[in-house]
Amino acid sequence: MTSATTADPTQREPELLGQTVVVIGGSSGIGLETARRVRAEGADVILTGRKPEPLRRAALDVEALSTAAFDANDPAAIERFFAGLPTPIDHVFVTAGSPEYGRLLETKFDDLRDALGDRLLLAIEVARNAVDRVRPGGTLLFISAELSHPTVGTGSVSTVAAALPALIANLALETAPVRANLIAAGFIDTPLSASLLRDDIERRRDQLRATLPIGRVVGPADVAALAVHIMTNTALTGATFTIDGQQLVE
Ligand SMILES: NC(=O)c1ccc[n+]([C@@H]2O[C@H](COP(=O)([O-])OP(=O)(O)OC[C@H]3O[C@@H](n4cnc5c(N)ncnc54)[C@H](OP(=O)(O)O)[C@@H]3O)[C@@H](O)[C@H]2O)c1
Repeated sequence: MTSATTADPTQREPELLGQTVVVIGGSSGIGLETARRVRAEGADVILTGRKPEPLRRAALDVEALSTAAFDANDPAAIERFFAGLPTPIDHVFVTAGSPEYGRLLETKFDDLRDALGDRLLLAIEVARNAVDRVRPGGTLLFISAELSHPTVGTGSVSTVAAALPALIANLALETAPVRANLIAAGFIDTPLSASLLRDDIERRRDQLRATLPIGRVVGPADVAALAVHIMTNTALTGATFTIDGQQLVE
């Protein structure tokens, strides 16, 4: 028997109503798509990136509360940014960064130090500066490449991918009751992927459509949906979530 008072499952409260989400790297790709998704779920967004013009366009797109243009790998800039936030925030998603490819033995020391260190140190600096500004139960969320078997030219990417889950699990102990989590992504169809693959991007998409069990390419909206789930499910902390459509072909 059906009751007239049964709730319609499509009629639900937005999941992030009244919350504020900071996206560091929010002017493109996964960050921008997540900003759109959290806005649709009722949150305000604060966006950052390095280039002012794409950031301005992204801010218009999602009606951002505010923006800030700075290099996230500059620890002084991270400190200034969080110190300048006017209100407590609920979640921080860090998508800033790009993979550094090249043979380990042929990469100069300074470049290797950046390739191996930037993403790990960025996570620590964000945690250090954000933790007192995030409401208990909120999450610091980071992203990395999923762990893949060794191939020549991806040594630093795969080393950092192996280290990040341990770093985030340890950080989560220190940031509690603020949560810390990691998304480990396979190929995601974003402007970054297009710029890295150039003329090969269509071939890559076709290969993934043909080989992934899901029969389609994973897009930024898929990652955005996972990010919102991690923000709203307060049981999740210290964890790494793989999203790749079961990618078995490198
Ligand atoms: N796409 C994939 O297949 C894939 C797979 C695994 C992991 N990931 C990781 O996911 C993240 C997002 O990737 P995406 O594909 O969405 O890239 P994207 O489209 O290039 O977007 C990256 C965003 O981060 C900003 N950004 C980059 N470096 C920054 C820095 N040093 N300081 C501040 N902002 C910075 C960019 O703006 P500005 O350039 O203006 O700074 C942009 O807003 C990256 O860390 C990437 O390595 C991507």
